Parts: sequence; structure tokens; C-alpha cells
Amino acid sequence: MTTRQKILITGASSGLGEGMARRYAAQGRSLALAARRIDRLDELADELRPAAAQVAVAELDVADTDAVPVVFGKLRD
Ligand SMILES: NC(=O)c1ccc[n+]([C@@H]2O[C@H](COP(=O)([O-])OP(=O)(O)OC[C@H]3O[C@@H](n4cnc5c(N)ncnc54)[C@H](OP(=O)(O)O)[C@@H]3O)[C@@H](O)[C@H]2O)c1
Repeated sequence: MTTRQKILITGASSGLGEGMARRYAAQGRSLALAARRIDRLDELADELRPAAAQVAVAELDVADTDAVPVVFGKLRD
């Protein structure tokens, strides 16, 4: 079984999503973090970058269905 190295988390600015981001960063994975509160994502990314392989952040409201594929595409790239 292969271990996924690139992980996108929506709702990463608090709670379960933030906890998952910390867990995966500690395992050296590459993370894409999305939520509406970009200031919180930026702070979290700064904290996680020393351990994670890569951290990208993007502001996203998942209720904006047009924005979801656009932002996911940018985070993938
Ligand atoms: N089934 C269970 O046993 C169980 C247990 C625990 C939690 N839950 C559920 O799991 C969910 C997460 O819980 P939590 O404690 O982690 O909550 P939380 O601390 O309130 O975190 C919610 C996350 O979702 C993001 N979010 C909310 N609306 C969003 C939107 N429209 N677009 C993008 N991001 C959005 C928030 O980011 P921004 O505000 O920055 O956008 C935040 O990062 C909740 O729905 C909770 O009810 C279920």
C-alpha cells in the first residue's frame, strides 16, 4: 500500500482540519490548506513549514461551488 504524500485539507484553519494538518506535517507530507480565514492559514503554514515537505494555502469558501475547482487546481499546481 502506498502512503499519500500530498494532502489537501479544507477547513484547516481550526478544529479537526488544523489538527490533521499538524499531524500530517509532523510526518513530513506536502499540504494544501484551505479555509475562509486566510490569516489563520498563513500563521499555521509558517508554523508547519519546518516539518512539512511543502505547505500551500488558499482562501476558499466551499459554498462557492465555482471557486472550488479553481482553487483546488491552484493548490495542486
Ligand atoms: N461526527 C462526529 O463525531 C464529529 C466530531 C467532531 C466534529 N464533527 C464535525 O466536524 C466538523 C468540523 O468540526 P471542528 O470541531 O473541526 O469545527 P471548527 O473548529 O469550527 O472548524 C471548522 C472548519 O471548517 C471551516 N469552514 C467552515 N465553513 C467553511 C466554508 N464555507 N468554506 C470553507 N471552510 C469552512 C472553518 O474555516 P473558516 O471559518 O476559516 O472558513 C474551520 O477551519 C463540524 O461540522 C463538526 O460538527 C463531527
